[in-house]
Amino acid sequence: MNPTKRVPKPRVLIAEDALQKRVSELAQEIDRDYADTERLVAVGVLKGSVFFMVDLLQKMTSPAQVDFFQTSSYGAGTEPGEVRIRKDIDLSIRGADVLLIEDIVDTGYTLRTILDLLRFRGAKSVKLCALLDKKERREVEVPIDYCGFEIEDLFVVGYGLDLADYYRNLPYIGVYQDPDA
Ligand code: IMP
Ligand code: MG
Repeated sequence: MNPTKRVPKPRVLIAEDALQKRVSELAQEIDRDYADTERLVAVGVLKGSVFFMVDLLQKMTSPAQVDFFQTSSYGAGTEPGEVRIRKDIDLSIRGADVLLIEDIVDTGYTLRTILDLLRFRGAKSVKLCALLDKKERREVEVPIDYCGFEIEDLFVVGYGLDLADYYRNLPYIGVYQDPDA
């Protein structure tokens, strides 16, 4: 199914200019905090974080290595909250300052799993930068060091966030309006 054919354009929740302004602020804050780092590794979670991560890293001036995880949280034989690593990072992060970059924190299971793994592998520090925080939905605690926006419990798309892999390339965050709801 291609939802973009059946549904009006997602209603704007966070406009493009507001997004870009906030991403610049986050980049400045991160640059300040990592001014003295020996080795910074920016780790994104595929695919949703990519659009945000590219803008953020281009606005940062701190040199950073870049790597990715890909996870899935459902599928045959998985329990709710059981997160699978489908693609691991390639770099060793032992002794590195790791900045984990994610599009949205919802229940928190994905990030909790990845944060624990990064610490277990001997990162010197691990911090989380998430564009969106759906706080009401949290089931496990995940501290967000750099948060773009707190949002209500709405299904959002755009700027990396998808429905069936559509809408990722919208330049804004929109609310998907289900025609069958
Ligand atoms: P968590 O493990 O429940 O925190 O799941 C986080 C993942 O769920 C995100 O990386 C997104 O891929 C997905 N997700 C959660 N809420 C939304 C939404 O409103 N729109 C699109 N994807 C979402
Ligand atoms: Mg996703």
